[in-house]
Parts: sequence; structure tokens; C-alpha cells
Amino acid sequence: MGDVEERVLRSSAWFGAADRDGFIHRSWMKSQGHPADLFDGREVIGICNTASELTPCNAHLDGIAERVRRGVLEAGGFPLEFPVMSLGETNLRPTAMLFRNLASMDVEESIRGNPLDGVVLLCGCDKTTPALVMGAASCDLPALVVSGGPMLNGKFRGGELGSGTAVWRFSEEVRAGSMELDEFLEAEACMSRSAGHCMTMGTASTMACMVEALGLALPQNAAIPAVDSRRLALAQLAGRRIVEMVREDLRPSRILVREAFENAVRANGAIGGSTNAVLHLLAIAGRVGVDFSLDDWDRVGRGVPTVVDLEPSGRFLMEDFYYAGGLPAVLRALDEGGLLHGGALTVNGHTLGENCAGAPNHSEEVIRPLVRPVCAEGGIAVLRGNLAPDGAVVKPSAASPELLVHRGRAVCFTSIEDYKARIDDPALEVDESSVLVLRNCGPRGYPGMAEVGNMGLPSRLLARGVRDMVRISDARMSGTAYGTAVLHVAPEAAAGGPLALVRDGDWIELDVPGRRLELAVEPDELERRRADWRPPEPAMSGGWQGLYVERVLQADRGCDLDFLVGCRGAAVPRENH
Ligand code: FES
Repeated sequence: MGDVEERVLRSSAWFGAADRDGFIHRSWMKSQGHPADLFDGREVIGICNTASELTPCNAHLDGIAERVRRGVLEAGGFPLEFPVMSLGETNLRPTAMLFRNLASMDVEESIRGNPLDGVVLLCGCDKTTPALVMGAASCDLPALVVSGGPMLNGKFRGGELGSGTAVWRFSEEVRAGSMELDEFLEAEACMSRSAGHCMTMGTASTMACMVEALGLALPQNAAIPAVDSRRLALAQLAGRRIVEMVREDLRPSRILVREAFENAVRANGAIGGSTNAVLHLLAIAGRVGVDFSLDDWDRVGRGVPTVVDLEPSGRFLMEDFYYAGGLPAVLRALDEGGLLHGGALTVNGHTLGENCAGAPNHSEEVIRPLVRPVCAEGGIAVLRGNLAPDGAVVKPSAASPELLVHRGRAVCFTSIEDYKARIDDPALEVDESSVLVLRNCGPRGYPGMAEVGNMGLPSRLLARGVRDMVRISDARMSGTAYGTAVLHVAPEAAAGGPLALVRDGDWIELDVPGRRLELAVEPDELERRRADWRPPEPAMSGGWQGLYVERVLQADRGCDLDFLVGCRGAAVPRENH
């Protein structure tokens, strides 16, 4: 304890001195009504809040921030809430992913530049979780994630409705003529009937599970519904705990070690998590300097069965998942199956194995035993071949088993606009064996890597009952979506990747068990085509988009900006007066 008591708090560089600078730092803060004893050397905790009415999934976070504040005060700390850029998946154009790195810079610099000793990160909608974790990881002050929690299950005409997943399904049914438009529109309010983020195992739920599996959140953080009172209790406990973490100097770099990432990869396989987690974990690992690659996703995750029966891979929703036992029940199953590094440290000071020991499973329908999985080969498959020299990903649990090995002729679209203009053109030569190829939707090409990789099928095939085809793109796919979609092809077309060279009628060979993606075109013919290829004109020059396009890394590196990779620490910046 002696060492801990003698440690000088970072915030004392602002509030500790009885001089002109200390006067300035304290005096202006006192304009908010803070009593003098809050500046007496107690731990200053930032509450990094992404609440915004433009980010509906995070709009309730002020209430959670209040509970974190209460916990910080109870533990003897000094809570200070601050806003950062919020990223709402449904509203933000061209895609929230374009701004993940920008938000991470906001977080990083807000933490480093202010008198903070530790930080609680309030996340929810898809990109808010990785953005906040990336920013905090680059600072490496004690940090703890509190998620906003998923919405309650959607309810519609006597059945359940899953966020996103139902939209994809219903919109196909409307196009196929098997659902009326008024019924479709009625489903809007039925699907989103409470505060919270998407309640399928989409990217938000996946990332909430990822931070819990990484050890950055308290047990059960991932699944407690947003409006369940236990979410508020967890926030209050998080507020108490972050103060202790500062006293223990428990920083992200002690938690985010290689074993933690391997745990997260296996947890992702077990929950049937989103392909977007691949990009986000690669980017987070880059920030903390952990050697963790795209191939690790395949190698570590191979053989992990998907046991959580949640949409889009399965039947249930996040509310059911929480009642069944939540992520601790899954982690326990992985641990007992020898698939977890149980000794990995977590934010509560215990190991992941200790946290999940004895975690009950209340429903083996929702959380199945490892021996009776939803999908024996869960996780993310990483493909390589002459069409994806630096890799591509596919989620077998969301794909049609009969399409995992497939040979078909390419039907190419040069942009999402081109796809929308021609997909229902009667003249388009396409059948169910075709392979839909979409390009220029990658990190540079879109820019930001749009979630359009699960492009809809031609209406005339839908009307004939076709529900899946092989689709290949340099885009992403919403975590709530499904289908045999090969995503994140790297290098992307706009960077000159081979995807740019595919032509209508070329044969493409997909072999997921063999991890191959090949374009059956001779190398010299590809070279002839390359000589004719010209990069697409950027949608915008200058500004954030210009910087992003210039510096973004490809999907196999997590789409971070090259100059943001790494941990820059939280040394106190120089004085400004
Ligand atoms: Fe925000 Fe799905 S739109 S989590």
C-alpha cells in the first residue's frame, strides 16, 4: 500500500500546485460549483460520453453517466464528464466507419490533454466502442468500458423482431412480393421499442462482448438490456472500480496482451459475432503494439463452435442471451473446453477465468453446450488467393452451407450506385450460380468501407425463391446481416487490388474449407487488364476524407490511419500559461 499512497496522481500537475497555474486550473473549475476538497489530491476520473440524439443507440447514456459519477464519488474520486464525437450507424453518411479513427483521435487527445487519472468509456452503437477503446489504448491511462446495453427484443404481430436482421429479411420479402408495404412500415416502431443498441448479435453487441472478453469491462457488461435496472447498478460499480484501478495503476497495456486478443477471437466464434470485429480488434491491437494479425483470426478461431443461438446466425436476441447467463456462461464453456486463456487479467483485478468460474447457463437452447453447437465451425474464415492476396473474410455461420464451396461466373458492379441501377435490369445476365462482385467500396474507394457487402439479390431470383448467392466485395457487412458474403477483400479495388480486374463472365472459385478465393484468369491476361486500369476519382478531395483516403491502412491492418498506430502514452503535456 505504501507505494500506492506515495504515487503522484497525473491530475496533480493541474490541480496540485499552490501557485498561479494551480489557481487557474482550480478557479475556473470552481465556476461549476465544485467544493475545494475535490481538488485535494483525489483521483480525477473522466466519463467519456458518446450520448447524442443523432446516435439513437447511445441517446440514453447520460443516465448511465450519472450512475458512473455516483460510483466514482462513493470511492473517493472526482468525476468529470466530457463529450466526444458520437457515431450513429443509421444516420451518419457516407458510413460511420469513415469516422471511427477521427473519433478515436478525439478520445485520445481529450484524455491526454486534460487533468485525468483514469477514464470510463461509455459506448453503444457499433463504432463507438472501438473508437473509444482505440483512443484510450493509445493513451494507456486506466480505462474501463461501460456499454449502453441492447434494446429489448422487438415484438411484431405475435413474434420477435431482431434489429437489422428483420429489416434485411423483410425488405427482400417486399421485393419478392411476399410482404405488403404497410406491414413492412408497421414493423419500424415494433423493432426499436426501447433505448439501447441493436439487440441482435450485430456489431454493437459483438463489440460489447469483445470488450468483456478482452477484460476491459465488468462481467455481464455485454448483455444486460439498456433499460434493465441492473445496467445502472453495473455503471455504479464501474465508477467505484475505476478509482481503484487508478490506485492499482491497472492500465490497458496490462490487460490488452496477446492472450486477451486470442480470448476475444474465440469468444467471437462462440457468439457468432460480426465480421466487423476483425477490423476493430486488429486496429486496437495496433494501438497497444500487440503482434496480432488477420491470420490469427483464422488460426486461433478455427474449430471454435458457435454456441450462442442469436440472430443473425440463429434464433434468439440479446435479452434472451442475458437471461440465459450472458457472456460469462459462454466464457465458462470455452474455459472448460480448453479454449480460453483463463489467466488473462481483467479490469476488476481478477482473471477472466476467475470471473466466469461457476457462471450458470440457464438455457441450453440459447447458449448451447460446446458439443451441441449452432455451427460446428464458427468464427471467421480468412481466405487467400489471387483474388485476395492480402486476405478476405467470410462468416461461415451466416452463410449457406451449400455455397461454401462454389464455382460461378462473375457479375460485376463498379460501385454501389452501379449495383442499384442494374441489379433488377431484365437484361442483366445472372442466375443463382452467378457470383456477384462489388468493388470500389473499400476503405479508400467508398471511402470508409461501406456495409454493402451483403448486397441484395436480383428481384427475379428472389421471386423464384432464391435466398442466397455468393457475393464478393471489398466492402463490409452489417453485423446484423447474413448470407454467403466474402468481405474485406484486400487490397481493395481502389488501391489496385485484383478485384478491380474481374470482368463479367470470369470464373471465380470459392473454397471456404480450403480457405481459397481464386479468379480463374491467366496471370498475363490480368497484367493486360491492369495496364488499362485507372483508379477511381476520389469522391472528395481535402478535409477529413482527403486525409483518410491518403493514410488509411487496408482491411488486413484494421483500417486505422497509419500515423495513429501505436501507443503514445499519457505524459502530461506542457503548460499553456
Ligand atoms: Fe446502433 Fe445497430 S444501429 S447498434
